Formats: sequence, C-alpha cells, structure tokens
Amino acid sequence: MKRSEVNNILSEADDFIKSFGFRLPPFAYWSPETMRERRDDISAIISARMGWDITDYGQGDFDRLGLFLFTVRNGTQEDLKRGGGMCYAEKIMISRQDQISPMHRHIFKTEDIINRGGADLALKMYTSDSAGNIDRDADVYVTTDGIQRQLSAGDTLRLSPGESVTLAPGNWHAFWGEGGDVLIGEVSAVNNDLTDNIFEAPIGRFAKIDEDVAPLHLLVSDYDTWLG
Ligand SMILES: [Fe+2]
Repeated sequence: MKRSEVNNILSEADDFIKSFGFRLPPFAYWSPETMRERRDDISAIISARMGWDITDYGQGDFDRLGLFLFTVRNGTQEDLKRGGGMCYAEKIMISRQDQISPMHRHIFKTEDIINRGGADLALKMYTSDSAGNIDRDADVYVTTDGIQRQLSAGDTLRLSPGESVTLAPGNWHAFWGEGGDVLIGEVSAVNNDLTDNIFEAPIGRFAKIDEDVAPLHLLVSDYDTWLG
C-alpha cells in the first residue's frame, strides 16, 4: 500500500469512528516525531502494539480484502500465563461494505466481535476438525450475547448494531460489512497479531508500505523500524 493511501484511510476511519461518538486515546493523534521524542514514555504502547493498524493482508487490494483496526488496550503474555492482571485487550475496527477479512482462526485468543454501529456485520463460520483445519461438515456452536446458537458449516451469521458473538480459538471466521460500512468492537483475551492468526489462504497479516509521502501517524507495524 502507498503511505498516502494509508494516511487517507486513517483520516476517513477517524471521521467514521467519531460519527458514532467513540473517541480514540490521545496518543492516536501524535505525530511520528512526537512518538520518537516520547519513546521512553510509550514503551508499554510499543510492546503491546497499541495503536493504528491497517491491513490489506499483503494482497494490495484494500477495498476488497482489508481491515482497519486500532488497538485501544492490550495486556501481557506474562499476566495471561499467571492468570491475573491485564489478561484482556480491546480493539475498534471498521469493515467496509463487502470488504472481506479473510477466513482465519486464532490459536489462543477468545474474542467477542461486536457490531458497534452502521450496517450489518456478516461472519461466515466453520468449526475446526481435530487437526485444527476447517471442518466443512460439522455444525458450529457459538454464543451471541449470551445465547447459544447452532449454525451449519459455512453459514453466514449476521449481527445488527448492538449484537455480538463470542468466538473461541476453534471457530474459523471471515467477516465483512453487509449493506454498508460497520464499526466493530473487539473485546478479547491478550492479543498477539504476530503469532496468533491462522489463515486459510497463505496471506500475510500486515501491509507492505510504499513510502510516497510522510506518515500522518505510525502504524503498529511501523514501530520496529521507526522507533527501534
Ligand atoms: Fe478473529
């Protein structure tokens, strides 16, 4: 993706998020220079990979295959292992109309995916076989806002604004906005996007950036190169 395209997506996403009354934390609006100057203050932000995150899954076609995310908070593996402290994470995301987040599951993370407003959120669902691969026959069991649901393999679950689904590590899911763009919340266990995503297709989790202009804000995938 070109950096100019990333900058535009950030601006549009910020407007969309604000239109629902949701507000991002102050560091969201820091410049790359401020992030560098305050490097010592933000080590927790960097290590937890909090902040802006745009992905085209390395495929270069963001409108068709992509997701906007902002990680608002994220705990630590140490707390998760000892079973206390900050074992949780929160993201705010946007799926545009018919913009697919491709079929994947997680290894450790259980996540609640919440329709925070806009259009319907559609999720195509499968469960795992004993090897962790997609089971194309078995029914899928999930909970939507505390209510047990049984779906057939490959069914599409539709969540209207206010609705949510709890996805366990074995639940394969792909999702997109249906009929318009959707603001999505994610409340989950500690999140590690470098190691916890298993995709059906051989794709990447992060975009490659072509630096045609200066970044408006750093993405979490920029932290290693820009902030060392
Ligand atoms: Fe997921």
